[in-house]
Amino acid sequence: MCGIVGYVGKDNAKNIIIDGLKRLEYRGYDSAGIALIVNGGIRTFKKEGKIRNLECELNKLHLFSNIGIGHTRWATHGEPVDTNAHPHSDCSGKISIVHNGIIENYSELRKELISKGHRFESDTDTEVIAHLIEEELKNSPSFFPAFIKAVRKLKGSYAIAAITVYEADKIFVARKDSPLIIGIGNGENFVASDIPAFLSYTNRALPLDDLEVAIIGKDSFQVFDIKGNEKEKEPFTIPWSLAQAEKAGYKHFMLKEIYEQPRAIADTISGNLPWLKGSVPLEGINPKTFNRVQIVACGTSYHAGLIGKFYIENFSHLPVEVDLASEYRYRSPVVDEKTLVIAITQSGETADTLAAVKFAKKKGAKTLAVCNVIGSSVTRESDQVLYTYAGPEISVASTKAFTTQVVTLFMFSLWLGKMRNVLKDEKVEELLHELMELPSKVEDFLNGEKERGTVKEIAESFYKAKNALYIGRHVNYPIALEGALKLKEISYIHAEGYPAGEMKHGPIALIDETMPVVVVATKGSVYEKILSNIEEVKARKGKVIAVTNPECREVKEKVEAFIEVPEVNEFLSPIINIVPLQILAYHIADFLGYDVDQPRNLAKSVTVK
Ligand code: G6P
Repeated sequence: MCGIVGYVGKDNAKNIIIDGLKRLEYRGYDSAGIALIVNGGIRTFKKEGKIRNLECELNKLHLFSNIGIGHTRWATHGEPVDTNAHPHSDCSGKISIVHNGIIENYSELRKELISKGHRFESDTDTEVIAHLIEEELKNSPSFFPAFIKAVRKLKGSYAIAAITVYEADKIFVARKDSPLIIGIGNGENFVASDIPAFLSYTNRALPLDDLEVAIIGKDSFQVFDIKGNEKEKEPFTIPWSLAQAEKAGYKHFMLKEIYEQPRAIADTISGNLPWLKGSVPLEGINPKTFNRVQIVACGTSYHAGLIGKFYIENFSHLPVEVDLASEYRYRSPVVDEKTLVIAITQSGETADTLAAVKFAKKKGAKTLAVCNVIGSSVTRESDQVLYTYAGPEISVASTKAFTTQVVTLFMFSLWLGKMRNVLKDEKVEELLHELMELPSKVEDFLNGEKERGTVKEIAESFYKAKNALYIGRHVNYPIALEGALKLKEISYIHAEGYPAGEMKHGPIALIDETMPVVVVATKGSVYEKILSNIEEVKARKGKVIAVTNPECREVKEKVEAFIEVPEVNEFLSPIINIVPLQILAYHIADFLGYDVDQPRNLAKSVTVK
């Protein structure tokens, strides 16, 4: 998973591309590079490490070019060193390529090209594309037919942008299974893996679909299918402002995004009310036609799916299975036209989730995407989309995308319950009313934390821990998993999430006076049970940090530290209970001095399987 930016227009491409790459750094950040057409030749610069290394290098030179391509890399083939960084070029140095994805047949192609005399400089799969175009050019009248012929020979996934001295005022692009969006400006055009790369210049965008190629000039763009037939496509207007994608005074995007949750939840409720209230139909889905639901997702989105199972089973009485998308298609799941498959994904680009959707569709299932990014791959692949209205999420560790996914699943389960006559209208109204009170309750908690810093203080006492255990039950068991994931992702502390009742079958052996145990202990049907679990931890001298409600005296008396969140309906409690755990992980990582927004080895959008 890498980030691509291309620019052709009237301004200095170098600055625009570097600016765009910085906004895509979340997609990968082990090396970066840029190629510009200067005085009829291609100049290429590459640097290991973060984009600022490349920027420092470029700042030493006085370069002007109004066309170029850039790339931020997250290594898949070949170590993250300068030579493997993109762009890559052909033997003549007249073609330059950036690529996101994996070329599965690159080693056959490479052998074939070497036998024809091509010389390779890197260990990447990408470099074959440049040489392949060079080879095809020998038998093509111009660059574009050679580009298309080369692309047709590629197997695997790709988003490609190419520039060439043969047509020095155009960028050639192609896409399959990796995102690529054209940004349409005035006398200038852009291409990028994600919208924030060009949002400060234009809010008009045209996402490419799989197996489409395009030619982008400063005043024109043409889209073709893979056979070279031109297609009519309409751009859309991006509803996000750039300010939404910036830090707004917070030290890190993660903290900003945590604090945005009341707004994000409120927007998600109002954005989805029309179909829940019946004023807009969910055309892609007929609840009378399926008898089971399968949820597929990765990472944090998977944890949202585990909560969704509780909702759908409780409110609509349909059986639900939840699968990690990377496992789903390998376990021979029973899936047919009576199955509804829900894919949960913030980015809409996670390769395993996309593959799971394609797999389910082939088997005849109806597919529903719960997604945050308009026009992303999973949304285009699914029969119906429900958007989460979180706005752009930049921090690798997901926060507001998670809470808005859970809200959307809650609303969907109410709709299903209503359509299947399990829930009466009054019950739906009552639950909706409680949902609508949630944003202000989350806001109360966040304001209290800003004033008192309780979670920050707890983080200060525990940030030197080497391990942590998170436990919860029922609908808050997934919150234990998600709390532990947040901690390990950004602070590199080993943390495990467990259902509290299962602790006695293993993890209890780990507990001693050095082990912090985070317990989700808010009011609900399993409250008494969780009190007993706290006793079990205390008896082994474990240090308990509880997320609880102000009225829960029994919890507060027993534990080392507690965080109070307002009491809400048990089914909605995961949405508020996760917030202190996000903040806890954030402060622990910050106390440890880590790069909170871009943790090592992780990327925001995982477009490899
Ligand atoms: C990566 C991110 C996680 C995210 C997961 C799934 O691992 O670091 O934060 O939960 O991908 O991403 P998706 O966009 O499909 O929700």
